Amino acid sequence: CGIIGYIGSLQAKDVLIRGLKRMEYRGYDSAGIAVQTPLGLNVKHKVGKVAGLEAMVESMDIDGTCGIGHTRWATHGKPSENNAHPHTACANDIAVVHNGIIENYATLKEELIGRGHVFSSETDTEVIAHLVEEAYDGDLLDAVRRATYRLAGAYGIAVVCDAEPGVIVCARKDSPIVVGQGKSGALVASDIVALIDETRDVVVLEDDTFAKLTFTDGESTIEYFDQEGSEIHPSVTHVDWDVSAAEKGGFPDFMLKEIYEEPRTIRDTLAGRMVNGHLQFDELSLNYDELAAIDRVYIIACGTSYHAGLIAKNLIEAWSRIPCEVEVASEFRYRNPIITPSTLVVAVSQSGETADTLAAIRDARIKGAKVFGITNVVGSPVARESDGVIYIKANKEIAVAATKSFLGQVAALTLLAMLLGQLRGGLTTAQIRMLFREMADTAQHIEQILADTSAIEEAALACKDAQNALFIGRGIGSTICYEGALKLKEISYLHAEAYAAGEMKHGPIALLDEGFPVIVVATKSPTYDKVISNIQECKARGALVVAIATEGDEEIKKHADHVIYIPKVRDCFSAITASVPLQLFARDIAIARGCDVDQPRNLAKSVTVE
Ligand code: G6P
Repeated sequence: CGIIGYIGSLQAKDVLIRGLKRMEYRGYDSAGIAVQTPLGLNVKHKVGKVAGLEAMVESMDIDGTCGIGHTRWATHGKPSENNAHPHTACANDIAVVHNGIIENYATLKEELIGRGHVFSSETDTEVIAHLVEEAYDGDLLDAVRRATYRLAGAYGIAVVCDAEPGVIVCARKDSPIVVGQGKSGALVASDIVALIDETRDVVVLEDDTFAKLTFTDGESTIEYFDQEGSEIHPSVTHVDWDVSAAEKGGFPDFMLKEIYEEPRTIRDTLAGRMVNGHLQFDELSLNYDELAAIDRVYIIACGTSYHAGLIAKNLIEAWSRIPCEVEVASEFRYRNPIITPSTLVVAVSQSGETADTLAAIRDARIKGAKVFGITNVVGSPVARESDGVIYIKANKEIAVAATKSFLGQVAALTLLAMLLGQLRGGLTTAQIRMLFREMADTAQHIEQILADTSAIEEAALACKDAQNALFIGRGIGSTICYEGALKLKEISYLHAEAYAAGEMKHGPIALLDEGFPVIVVATKSPTYDKVISNIQECKARGALVVAIATEGDEEIKKHADHVIYIPKVRDCFSAITASVPLQLFARDIAIARGCDVDQPRNLAKSVTVE
């Protein structure tokens, strides 16, 4: 999503549209603006591209020099005009644009409805507008400050109100907001790229701080405040990126940017899923009896999503004891799988529009299966054609090779496995709470991995000139390897295969000779000792071994040429943490080989043909 706000001497409508267009690369499904005019706030929404909104407002007389705008990437509620931002309260007197997820919105909404508020959208954002309305007592900054006390979750917001012309108030918690003084006025945005035409000196708001943009007597001013309302003086950052670097948030490519967004993806995908100690799946409109009677699960998907399924199979079978098979969609649909009304088909698709996955869903439903979709795109065909859907909250993913969406899928599938485990008595409520907490902790673990990537870079440098590579592991470790090998071949064009380590001696070991790279997932797990034996077998044939190992494991240094340490987690969550170094490893090799990591040859982000 993208937020923009402007206050100054130009017509706000034009500046807002320009800013929104700058952020379009992040994806959009609807856009909107709210401009303060002499006749009150003028709010306009349009489903689809910003160009659609632009065409609509072009001929409209929206006379005003202060306003806010938004491009939306749906997280709560389908893409529609009602769900598009800005959201208003009090008959359009207050308008809010918001990025992030308000975790306690359902409770707040119920409370607000109880006090007579009328809601017009399905979004979490609208509660903010109503909270500000309630708190408003002649001072917008104060009202926003007090409203944010009630919010749990992540937000970057900009607010305007009819009663205070020439004022925009913004706030942030875990969702970026940048503010800058432009040539013709002051601006706020969620993304530096939206400000770059107007200014290169920006303030990046800290969590729990506020900015107030004002325009009086031809002058714009920006003031900053802390949670108590005391003025603060944050430092100004000078940005010398060009537009394309700004789109990538200063990262050299989208893939790296998206890998760095993984902690956020985990947090957002889990946000609101545990309420009062219980798993929450509102959008599945679950019939728990029906779900408890499920006797077979098929996970169907393609590419990276298929690998997320392989990981989930282990968890579903371990926790619920329901047999689970994982199949690539293009195979599933052409055979005659055993499907009965007590079969659950879980279709996993980042884009929600992969042709084979969709065809498999249709087929499964005709045969009487219950179908759940797991996707990143609200309102996508997979979402529409499933009986229930769990959204991963990875936000738009631009690099062709999936990274953060994969982690989001693994997290969402793990939640589903926990739910099935609970329904089938395989997991107690206490165990579920513990698992949930540990999964949430992986966000921090990933941050820790990203804080020092030097060992990954060194290992990649040692392997960059190879022709082939093998990825081996056992249990969850082997499933991670499939994704590690896919990532490497996709973006570096280096031939890579993944094998269950125990299979090495049944064939692949014949490939090994001096310097052949073998990447081993050797984290602490019940099969750790066996994996060490496999490493020794590889070393004995001259292989160059890169091990992904658990922090504190000194033993492994004796066996591997390169060790990449990751924090200690429960085995099942190593699927999340160990995937991160493998993604970085693939990217480092691809970069060293001069490949375009964002747009690898012959591949498309979504494959809508069979
Ligand atoms: C394409 C992409 C892959 C993706 C696969 C499945 O091949 O390049 O990155 O994993 O499609 O896409 P989906 O959107 O269904 O997850």
